[in-house]
Amino acid sequence: MRRIAIAMAKGGVGKTTTAVNLSHGLARAGARVLLVDCDTQGQAAKFLGIDPPLGLYEFVTRRDDKGAPVSKKDTLCPARPNLWLLAGGDKLIELKNWLGEQPRDIRPTALRRSLVPKDDSLDFMIFDCAPGWDVLSVNILMAVNEVLCPVALQGPALEGLKTFFRYLLSAQKVNKDLRLNYVLPTLFDKRTRQSYQIYQQLYRLFRRQLCDPIHYNVRLSEAPSQGQTIFEFEGHAIGAADYEKLTRRIMDNGGPEK
Ligand SMILES: Nc1ncnc2c1ncn2[C@@H]1O[C@H](COP(=O)(O)OP(=O)(O)O)[C@@H](O)[C@H]1O
Ligand SMILES: [Mg+2]
Repeated sequence: MRRIAIAMAKGGVGKTTTAVNLSHGLARAGARVLLVDCDTQGQAAKFLGIDPPLGLYEFVTRRDDKGAPVSKKDTLCPARPNLWLLAGGDKLIELKNWLGEQPRDIRPTALRRSLVPKDDSLDFMIFDCAPGWDVLSVNILMAVNEVLCPVALQGPALEGLKTFFRYLLSAQKVNKDLRLNYVLPTLFDKRTRQSYQIYQQLYRLFRRQLCDPIHYNVRLSEAPSQGQTIFEFEGHAIGAADYEKLTRRIMDNGGPEK
């Protein structure tokens, strides 16, 4: 099973859009996918048009908010054929408190330990990360071995990247298997010179990891309000073609061995 974090220090760069559409792309291609929403905003469920009663908080703590025991299986919400969601949202604030109360030596790996799959029932776990750096972000980077970093081709893109690299390097000191495998340019606007300039910079820095850009596409921003992925909302949109291409790249180049 491959575990990929969609992570970047900045918000609004297309992390959730990528996590949701990539997860659905992989599921449509026949892979069994668990999307894990690690953001207190809980956007992934909205993007998929579902309202799961349980999620990541209950999965890790094994309790519901009244303290009653919960089985892990019940926390996974079926979202589409081959796609399940572990929902995020407000309750992740409590999860962070819970993690903070764990003994220091096991605190960073609490998530990793609770994710150990008992069987071969999944091909991918995709983690939609929140911006910023806290006990949950650390836990995610301990639980995955691949990182996909979306970079918006507009604004001060490389600043967020520098901050993110500091996080990544500190995580790699502990998790030796952690690799930045994909740098994904997002919000590519053909009409602006800035898009090309940032793309060129990324090409110089990350030739091997650099993916084809995701175009700025209004359809991608409209689909979530209908609770649909781009493949459902408008399969002929350029955004659908872009995410299809990303899906293929990720399925084809395998990534590191498990
Ligand atoms: N390629 C794109 N084209 C147009 N709008 C996009 C694109 N990617 C994301 N968006 C929109 O930009 C906003 C931020 O995207 P989101 O995926 O929520 O970012 P993040 O999770 O990094 O905060 C959302 O409103 C989303 O619909
Ligand atoms: Mg997000």
